[in-house]
Amino acid sequence: MTRRFYVTTPIYYVNGAPHIGHAYTSVAADIVARFRRLAGDDVFFLTGTDEHGQKVEQAAATAGETPQAFTDSIAADFRAMADTMQISYNDFIRTTEPRHIAGAQALWEKVAESGDIYSGHYEGWYALRDEAFYGEDELTTRPDGTKVAPTGAPVEWVREPSYFFRLSKYQDRLLELYETQPDFIGPHGSRNEIVSFVRQGLRDLSISRTSFRWGVPVPGDEAHVMYVWFDALSNYLTALGYPDTSAPRMAWWPADLHLVGKDIARFHTVYWPAFLMAAGIPLPGKVFSNGWWTVEGEKMSKSLGNVIDPRDLVKEFGVDPVRFFLIREVPFGGDSDLSRRSFIHRLNTELANDLGNLAQRTLSLIARNCGGVLPDAGPHTPEDEQLLAPASLLPSVMEGQVARCALTDALEEVWKLIRACNAYIDHQAPWALKKTDPDRMAHVLRVLADALRIIATVLQPWMPESMAKMLTQLGTEEQERSFAALATPLPGGRSLPAPQGIFPRYTEEAK
Ligand code: ME8
Ligand code: MG
Repeated sequence: MTRRFYVTTPIYYVNGAPHIGHAYTSVAADIVARFRRLAGDDVFFLTGTDEHGQKVEQAAATAGETPQAFTDSIAADFRAMADTMQISYNDFIRTTEPRHIAGAQALWEKVAESGDIYSGHYEGWYALRDEAFYGEDELTTRPDGTKVAPTGAPVEWVREPSYFFRLSKYQDRLLELYETQPDFIGPHGSRNEIVSFVRQGLRDLSISRTSFRWGVPVPGDEAHVMYVWFDALSNYLTALGYPDTSAPRMAWWPADLHLVGKDIARFHTVYWPAFLMAAGIPLPGKVFSNGWWTVEGEKMSKSLGNVIDPRDLVKEFGVDPVRFFLIREVPFGGDSDLSRRSFIHRLNTELANDLGNLAQRTLSLIARNCGGVLPDAGPHTPEDEQLLAPASLLPSVMEGQVARCALTDALEEVWKLIRACNAYIDHQAPWALKKTDPDRMAHVLRVLADALRIIATVLQPWMPESMAKMLTQLGTEEQERSFAALATPLPGGRSLPAPQGIFPRYTEEAK
């Protein structure tokens, strides 16, 4: 039976334009989605935009627009960015859609039925920038006397009527969850942080506001709108048709993987499972948080003017090199820096040299010396076997890595094979065999074509466009590009299209 797999990105705030940080998490989630599809799963991949809250209300006012007109235009821009980045989402949810609003209200009612919502007054430190409340003990005081949250966001003292969620009640159950489902939170460092945060004790959570209007009305008390995180987190369910349990998409719940940035790990690993527990809804399998990108060593910020729109890089270099670089540069989960120099360096060494040259050398020798026809598979020598045996294990090795979100390790695994292929071609020197042993030459080229087919197949999730080109050049049909299809060797004798370089070289000087 086909397995269902449900993966999500965060839904991004529409209070600013999309940038490389948003593209990053979406690309990572897309790689997982594409990988699981190639492995045969029935995947549902969700992304979207988070459109409520005081910050959005204020940003719209500053822009002189109504909140709805403002969110419409920025949401469209986020969708355009996802399309440029080749994000293969199945749905794009917007929290201002009626289906979401109704679903979020239904979830609220479900949680309320359990007795875990009560009304009171909220009084405390609130950081508008983070849309989060902080305890006194978490704050630091700046020399000018202002208090800031651990994120650096300024906080203000607010007091207003509010509904509360009995988060304190869930401390033990959450700790038990982290204990019994050790893979629930990744990477490891994030898990440790969350466990120690929850061990310190949880305060009940204010989940409604009365000081602004741009939100989902609290059912039964329209003076309140929902706290943006209650609203936002519920998107993962509302997009599936919640609360209609007979909606076909509900078969994808519980989610297999929520991919998020480390800034919002707490919301997804503490609040979200607690809301679900209160509502009696099964919990997601895993929450994995990616690290933080800086640009040329600096934090991206509007005031520094260094915010990178990934579409500018895509215009200059194409989409796949950008996708590749984002995941290749640093082990997924860690922090990384985007510098033009290291970006171009990686494209030249790993894409143009390692992979591009290997394909170009192999395919042009087949074009020139084998009449452009894929040679028959011959009997393997021990050296051929030494190359192909580990190659055939690659999809299953990578499957384990992708399940752990070790997306960079998985790439490294492919590069080991690429480097082995380059050593093999140098050692076998098929160009020299043309005169001395043409049969062996054809076999060597066939071994390389088989290895390249595996390489291009498993790299499709990272670089869908260029690997589609490579697979076409290797003579595979559309339906021969899944992991399962690798079990069937391509018949020799197919004529291959004329080889064309896929990864150009760039000048490395900084611009
Ligand atoms: O937090 N490096 O939305 P948001 C890496 N609406 N990742 C980055 C990044 C950077 N410099 N900048 C942003 C929200 N991200 C909420 C989410 S989900 C129910 C609600 C990525 O627009 C990263 O995934 O602030 C981060 O968690 C997310 O964008 C935050 O997007
Ligand atoms: Mg943010």
